[in-house]
Amino acid sequence: MIEFVDVAVRVRLPQAGQTAVKTLLEDVNLQLSEHRIAVIGANGSGKSTLLRLINGLIEPDQGKVLVDGLDTLREGKQVRGQVGFIFTDALSQLLLSTPLDDVELSLRARVKDRTERREAARALLAERGLAEVAEQSVYDLSGGERQLVALTSILSLQPQVVVADEPTTLLDLKNKYLVRKAFNALEQQLIYATHDLDWAEKADRVIVVHRGRVVASGLPEQCIRHYLELMDS
Ligand SMILES: Nc1ncnc2c1ncn2[C@@H]1O[C@H](COP(=O)(O)OP(=O)(O)OP(=O)(O)O)[C@@H](O)[C@H]1O
Ligand SMILES: [Mg+2]
Repeated sequence: MIEFVDVAVRVRLPQAGQTAVKTLLEDVNLQLSEHRIAVIGANGSGKSTLLRLINGLIEPDQGKVLVDGLDTLREGKQVRGQVGFIFTDALSQLLLSTPLDDVELSLRARVKDRTERREAARALLAERGLAEVAEQSVYDLSGGERQLVALTSILSLQPQVVVADEPTTLLDLKNKYLVRKAFNALEQQLIYATHDLDWAEKADRVIVVHRGRVVASGLPEQCIRHYLELMDS
C-alpha cells in the first residue's frame, strides 16, 4: 500500500532579484492499493513529481509518503529497495554498456557466483526476447529494446512495486504495444504515468493530476472523461 498524507512539494526559484515559491504539488491525499494505477494529466501538471515521491527521488516539503508503512524521507534506502523506477528515456538508467552487464549488475546482491550470475542475466534477457541483443551496446538498441532491458534490470532487483514515468512515450506503435504488454503482465503493483488514454483505460484506477493537484481519482472511464472535459474547457 502506498499512502500520500497531505503532501505538498514546493521549490524556491529566483525571480526578479527575489525568491519566489512555486508549488509543484499540494493537497495530495491518496491510498494506492490497486494492482494497476495510471496517472494522467497535461504537460507540467505534476505527474512526474507525484511518481518520484513514491521512491523518494523527490522529498515532500509537507506531509508524508509511505510505502508499506515505510517513510520515503526517513527510510529512503529501504523504500528504494521496494520500488523500482522506470524513466521515459531508458538509456538514462542503463548503467553499463551492454544489456547483459546491466542485468548482471542488478543481480549482484542476489547471485554471488559470477558465472551463475551471468547465466541468470542471460536467461532473464532471453525470457524477454532480448537474447540476440544481450551483448550489443545499449546505445545501439531501439527505444523499445532499451525499455525492456531497463525493465529486466529493475525486476532483477525484485521490487514489490514498479513505477514507470511515461515508459512508452518515445516509442513507435509496435514497440508501444510490446512494452505495454510487458508492463501489463507484471505481477508487481504498477503505477504508470501516460498520455495514452487507451492504456490508462485498462488500469484498475486512474488518477488525474491538474495544476499540481489530484482532481480526480477512481474508475478509469469517469476519470478519463473528467480529464477530457478539463482539457476542452
Ligand atoms: N526542480 C524543479 N524546479 C522548478 N520547477 C520544477 C522542478 N521540477 C518540476 N518543475 C515544474 O513543476 C511542474 C510539474 O512538473 P512535472 O515534471 O511533475 O510535470 P509532468 O506532469 O510530469 O509533465 P510532462 O507530461 O511534461 O512530463 C512543471 O511546471 C515543471 O516545470
Ligand atoms: Mg513528466
